[in-house]
Amino acid sequence: MGGPVHTMAVIAVIRESHPGETRVAATPETVRKLIAAGFEVSVQAGAGLAASCSDADYAAAGARICASAAEAVAGADVLFGVRTPSAEALGALKAGAIVAASLNPHQDRAGLEALASRGAEAYALEFIPRITRAQVMDVLSSQANLAGYRAVIEASTAYGRALPMMMTAAGTIAAAKVFVMGVGVAGLQAIATARRLGAVVTATDVRPATKEQVESLGAKFIAVEDEEFRNAQTAGGYAKEMSAEYQAKQAELISGHIGKQDIVITTALIPGRPAPRLVTAAQVGAMKAGSVIVDLAVEQGGNVEGARVGEVVVTSNGVRILGIPNLPGRIAADASALYARNLLAFSGLLLDKEGALAPDREDEILKAALVVSGGKIVHPALAGS
Ligand code: NAI
Repeated sequence: MGGPVHTMAVIAVIRESHPGETRVAATPETVRKLIAAGFEVSVQAGAGLAASCSDADYAAAGARICASAAEAVAGADVLFGVRTPSAEALGALKAGAIVAASLNPHQDRAGLEALASRGAEAYALEFIPRITRAQVMDVLSSQANLAGYRAVIEASTAYGRALPMMMTAAGTIAAAKVFVMGVGVAGLQAIATARRLGAVVTATDVRPATKEQVESLGAKFIAVEDEEFRNAQTAGGYAKEMSAEYQAKQAELISGHIGKQDIVITTALIPGRPAPRLVTAAQVGAMKAGSVIVDLAVEQGGNVEGARVGEVVVTSNGVRILGIPNLPGRIAADASALYARNLLAFSGLLLDKEGALAPDREDEILKAALVVSGGKIVHPALAGS
C-alpha cells in the first residue's frame, strides 16, 4: 500500500548567535541532499545570509523558512549548529532531540550543562574520531584548512611589503620570509598558501611526521630533533605536551630564527589543554619593524605572548600581532559549504535503513562524539572537570 511507516525526522538550522559568527550549518546544497535522504528541514530566516546563502535558495532547495529560531526548533528532532545553540533555540528544543554542533566541549562547560538541562542528546563534532570513515565528517580539518589559508591572507594584508620576489626596473623586492609554527591541518595549508604567494617558508612542529610533509611542500623544516621529539606524537596523531627542558631547547632554536622572519603564523594546539606558548615577548622584541604575527591559537590561550583575542597589538618595536578569532568565519561561504557537507555526512549516522531516526548508539563515531545524554554530561574526557 506504500506510504511512510514513520514520520519524517525534522532538522532545524538556525542563525548562529555567537558574536561575529558568520557561518551556517547547512547550505541549500546540503538541504537538498538531506531532504533526498528522508529528512525535512526547517531553516530560520536569514540563517545563511552572512555565508552567501539566501532564504530563497533554501526555500528552492525544499526547506521550510521560519521567522525565528524558536519556530525553526519547535518540533525539530535534530538541531544542526556551527556552535552551541542560543538560549532561545534551546528553550524551544524538545526533550530527547539531537543536537550536533561544534560545542567547544573542553572550554564551554556551561553550554554542555544547558544542553543537559534541556534533555538534549548532544554530539560535539570536535570529538569525531580521526578514522578513515569519519574523514568526511571532520569539521576540525575542514575548518582548520581554511583558517590556515586565511591566516596567510590576513598576514599579507597587514604586511607592508609584497610576499613574492619581484624584479622591476625600479629595483628588486625581496621575497618575504614566512615561518609557520605547528604543522597540523592549518599549518600545512598556511605553508602551501605562503608558497603559492612566493614567500620563502620555514616551519616547525614537535611531531616528527611533519618533517616530510613540510619538505614536500617546498618549505624548510626546523626543530629540536632529540629523543623526546621522536616520541612526541600520540597514538591518535596529536602532539604531547612537551617537557620544560624540551621547551627551553625549542625556545633557543626559535630565538635565533624568528628575528629574521617577516611573517610568523602559529597554529599549535594540544587537545584539551591550553595552547603551548611558543613565542615570548622577548622574541617578538627581537623581530624587525613591520613584521606580522598571526596567532591562530589565540582563543585557546595563545601561542604568542601579548596576543589578544580580537585585537591587532602593535608592539613598541613595530611588530603587529593579529589575534583574529574565528578565521574560518572570514571565509564564511566556503567554510559553511564544507562544514555543511561534514554535517550531511554525519546525518547518515542518524537514520536507519528505512529512513527513520534511529542513531546507532554502538557506532564508533557517535559513541566518541556523544557528550550529553539523558540530562547529563556523559563523555569520559569531560567527567568531573
Ligand atoms: P592540532 O590543531 O591539534 O595542532 C596543530 C599542530 O600543532 C599539530 O601539528 C601539533 O603537533 C602542533 N604542536 C603542538 N604543540 C607544539 C609545540 N610545542 N611546538 C610546535 N608544534 C606544536 O592538530 P591538527 O591539525 O588537528 O592535526 C592533528 C593530527 O591529526 C595530525 O597528525 C594530523 O595529520 C591528523 N589528522 C588526521 C586526520 C585523519 O586521519 N582523518 C584528519 C586530520 C588530521
